[in-house]
This record gives sequence, structure tokens and C-alpha cells, in this order.
Amino acid sequence: MKDQLEALRLQIAKDIGSAETLEVLDELEIKYLGRKGELTAILKGLATVSAEDRPVLGALANEVKQAGMDLLERRRNELSSSKFAALADTERADMTEPGKRPVEGHLHLVTQTIREITDIFEKIGFYRTRYPEIDWDWYAFESLNMPPDHPARDDWETFFMDAVSSDAKKQGRMVLTPHTSNGQAHELERHEFPVRMLGIGKCYRRQSDATHAPMFHQFEGLYVDEGVNLSHLRGILDYFAEQFFGKGRVSRIRPHHFRFTEPSFEVDISCGICGATGVVNGQKCKICKQGWLEIGGAGMVHPNVLMASGVDPKKYSGLAFGWGIERVAMMKEGTQLDDIRILYQNDVRFLKQF
Ligand code: DAH
Repeated sequence: MKDQLEALRLQIAKDIGSAETLEVLDELEIKYLGRKGELTAILKGLATVSAEDRPVLGALANEVKQAGMDLLERRRNELSSSKFAALADTERADMTEPGKRPVEGHLHLVTQTIREITDIFEKIGFYRTRYPEIDWDWYAFESLNMPPDHPARDDWETFFMDAVSSDAKKQGRMVLTPHTSNGQAHELERHEFPVRMLGIGKCYRRQSDATHAPMFHQFEGLYVDEGVNLSHLRGILDYFAEQFFGKGRVSRIRPHHFRFTEPSFEVDISCGICGATGVVNGQKCKICKQGWLEIGGAGMVHPNVLMASGVDPKKYSGLAFGWGIERVAMMKEGTQLDDIRILYQNDVRFLKQF
């Protein structure tokens, strides 16, 4: 039995030494040292040896087992480190290769336009304000020279809410603001001059078609100081036309009527396609049809508007203008959308283009 054990020890050492893979080592472990392995088989014979020899042979068997385990471990270590060494040659990662970019979003076209318009006006001293988008009737209408029940209010068909207030100015109802002109009284009430407000906010009206959305944005300019006159308005409008739409674009004003300005105008921008001639290659311009594109309203602030906020119209005068953010975004070359509602459908295929 002793010879058997010694022979097994040699055999194990020989096989482990020549094993080339980890899988082979696993098999050898089972074959020699496992529960049903060769060592166990030899040990079964212990029952038949004399009581004297038994402890000696038992100890030898343990030694053989331990030696086998040690050899297995050493060979396993050797094989796995050479396996990783080989991997380093075959599967090397190039750390200088560019990584994979995660999908990145960007600002919505309307936000981009708001930022661009803000930058343009900040350069000439305007500051961005935001006033409530749910406001008292006073700010949305009355302070703008539109008393209750005045028919001019019909132009801003809008959404009213039930609300009560003990403040005399704030009596009446609250509205989802139909325009940003409500900011005028808020800003004038501060009595800090010069006022050079650029108010940008959301507006709500009962409308929905290719050129109107029930929720949209406007920007409202208000410049009030001593000696502000119509030439300032002309200069600001031309400045905006060129900055926003591009070199060579100009504005023009046409008489109109608003309750909160006197005189009042509608503002047009020269068409970039036909250069304000209305004609392209002897044909009527398809974009503007007559040389000009209407963008919004403007005028000199009505004295009643100044007085409503406690500003003396003999000392101060002002100009105001206001129009839609979506509208100018849609008109810009490179955008030219024909349906405003697509801006709010959240279709990524559309949004990605801007
Ligand atoms: N609030 C007007 C609208 O929504 C636009 C407007 C016209 C604003 C004339 C002004 C202005 O400040 O002076 O149609």
C-alpha cells in the first residue's frame, strides 16, 4: 500500500506538471483527489492493514493529498497568469481611441430664439424681465387703457379665472395673459428710470391654426425716459431687423391702432428673398407676396398708460413694441416653418434639425 501511495504521488506530480489548461487541472483533481478518486480508492484498503501500520499509512496518504493540492494550486496560478499575459497580446484596449458619445440633447428652437433676442437687446441696454403669466385684469387690460367691457379687448380673446382680491388695482378677474404687455404697468410702477425692459413670457389665446398656437411666447420692449421719441423706435426696429434677420434687412412701420400706444404702428421686416421688391425673376415673391413681412405692433406709449402707473406724461415719454417669439423664429431664413404647432409636438426628428 505504501508503494501504491508513492506511485500515486509521482503520477499526480507528473500529470499536473504537464497539464496545459485549467480545465485539465480540474479533471486531474477529480481523478486523483476527488471523493471517488484514486486516492480514496487506495484508502479503502486501510481497513485491512494492521493497527500498527494504519496511522503511518494514514499520515502518508494525507501527505500525498496535500502535496497534490499544493501542486494543483501552483500550476493553476502559472496557467492563469500566462493566460492573462496572452490576453494582453490578443485583446489589447487602445486607450487613445475616441470613446462612444452618449446621445446629447440641445435647447429647443424657441429657447434658442429667446436667448438670441435677449442678447440682441442687452447690447443696447435693455434688461430681461419676467412678469406673471397669470395676472390681474388690471395689468392685462385696464392699465393699458382698456376699461372693462371695452370692445378692443375682443382682440385678445382669452382665458379668465375666478379670483378675488381686496387690492383696488387687482379687482376683477385673473387672466392667463394674452400678451406680454401686462409687464408694462408692472415695470412702470417701480418708478425707476430709464425703463429699458425686455419682457419675455408665455401668452395664451383661444386659437389654434397654422400660424396661431393657444400657448406661445412674446417679447415686449418698453423704453421710457425723458425725451424718448419716434426716431428711437425707428432705430431700435432697424437694429433688430439687421441683428436678427441679417445684414441688409430693414424695418418699416405702418399706421395702426392699439389702445395703449399713440401713435400706433404695425411693424414689417423687408423680405430676405426678394429684397423688399415683391418680385423674384419677374414673378411675385412666394414668401412675402409684396416685399414685406409683418412681425408685430409698436408705438409711443399712450399718456393714459403712464398715468395709470403714476408716471407723469409731461416729464416722461416712451416707446413700446411687442411680437411673437415663435413668429420671428419661423420667419428666419434657415427655419421657414409653415405650421407653428410643430414646435410643440415634441417630435425629436423635427427638433434635432435646429
Ligand atoms: N400686445 C400687442 C399684441 O399682443 C402687441 C403690441 C402692440 C405690443 C403694440 C406693444 C405695442 O408693446 O406697443 O398684439
